[in-house]
Amino acid sequence: MKGQQTTDNKQLNLSNNTVKNQYSLIESNTMGFDIVAEKYYEINSLKDIEYLIENNIFNDNKTLILGGGSNILFRNEYFDGTIIHSNLKGITISPDDDEILQLSDSATQNHTIVRCMSGEVWKDFVDFTIKNNLYGLENLVDIPGSVGASPVQNIGAYGVEVKDCIDCVYTIDLTNGDRVIFNNEDCDFSYRNSVFKKEENKKYFIVAIDFKLKQKADLNLEYGNVKEYLEKNGIISPTLSDVAEAIKQIRAAKLPEVGVIGSVGSFFQNPIVSENIFKNLKETYPEMPSYPNENGVKIPAGWLIDKAGWKGHKENHVGVWDKQALVLVHYGGGKPEEILDLMKKIQDSVKEKFGIEIKPEVNIV
Ligand code: EPU
Repeated sequence: MKGQQTTDNKQLNLSNNTVKNQYSLIESNTMGFDIVAEKYYEINSLKDIEYLIENNIFNDNKTLILGGGSNILFRNEYFDGTIIHSNLKGITISPDDDEILQLSDSATQNHTIVRCMSGEVWKDFVDFTIKNNLYGLENLVDIPGSVGASPVQNIGAYGVEVKDCIDCVYTIDLTNGDRVIFNNEDCDFSYRNSVFKKEENKKYFIVAIDFKLKQKADLNLEYGNVKEYLEKNGIISPTLSDVAEAIKQIRAAKLPEVGVIGSVGSFFQNPIVSENIFKNLKETYPEMPSYPNENGVKIPAGWLIDKAGWKGHKENHVGVWDKQALVLVHYGGGKPEEILDLMKKIQDSVKEKFGIEIKPEVNIV
């Protein structure tokens, strides 16, 4: 389906697009830095996208599509370009019309397709699927951000990645208005990565996503302490909402509350090293946790940073979260360069101690 375009480009008239100049992004990045964008467009309808395309907004400027701002770090306090933000709303269970592009044909007797517009808030969407007894996204509860951003970095938690539930992604090419559908395979998903992260694909504005969810119980409790948590709370045969609630509690105990303390969740990716490197490290650090991975062995960056002595560290307005060393935090009133300085110091120290390079998971722009 890659590159498939609909010929029926519906007549879309320009209207009610919301344009703001010199717009403060303080509420639009969960790090909480006071960044000002030269221009900010809020997309409330497909007509608004048409307007951007007709006016060559994407081609003329430094342009950035911003979701919930929960995985982005602006280097500078002024963004001299245009931000495009999806405010497209709507969730449809078993869509049976061609309201966006075309019908998804992947629903089976055991699956339900749920179509969600990109501007929906991810955690509200997951809660909606749980209320509707649909299985698949329950381990991804309470992840901050928008639905449209979820495939970009293939969000993941507690043994599940969003790729496991994505049927297809509906996009519009902002350079020419072509509507392009990416099916699951086209998205080229891997750990915290997808086709949408490539520079040449940043022109695709995600309009909506079809999720393929299960109607019958298929819970994944294997990762970390989920099972343990449930057992401790006397839950032997957990329901969908038991699992979601358990993961909400586990997350809340480890991660800073969004909107209260600035953060982007995991700041770094977990590095993947070769079997050989892992073997050597394990000799020195027998207690080192690890997860097998198709490309080698994944080591938790949080553990490396913790062992290097950074957990709970504070400097100026920023620091390393005291309950999860993978999370860098901004206590307010600081500047992006403070986090960038801290990032560099942590990277250098982990490299020096373990010989491993850790890379940011957050998108730095
Ligand atoms: N660990 C430490 N010290 C720390 C943090 C972790 O020793 O300060 C150890 C833990 O004890 C555990 C291991 O490292 O043995 C892994 O920790 P955890 O289970 O907390 O998971 P993670 O690998 O640090 C990943 C995701 C999280 C996701 C959790 C749970 C990445 C980069 N991060 O973290 O995702 O919530 O697993 O599935 O893959 C996010 O992407 O923003 C995010 C929070």
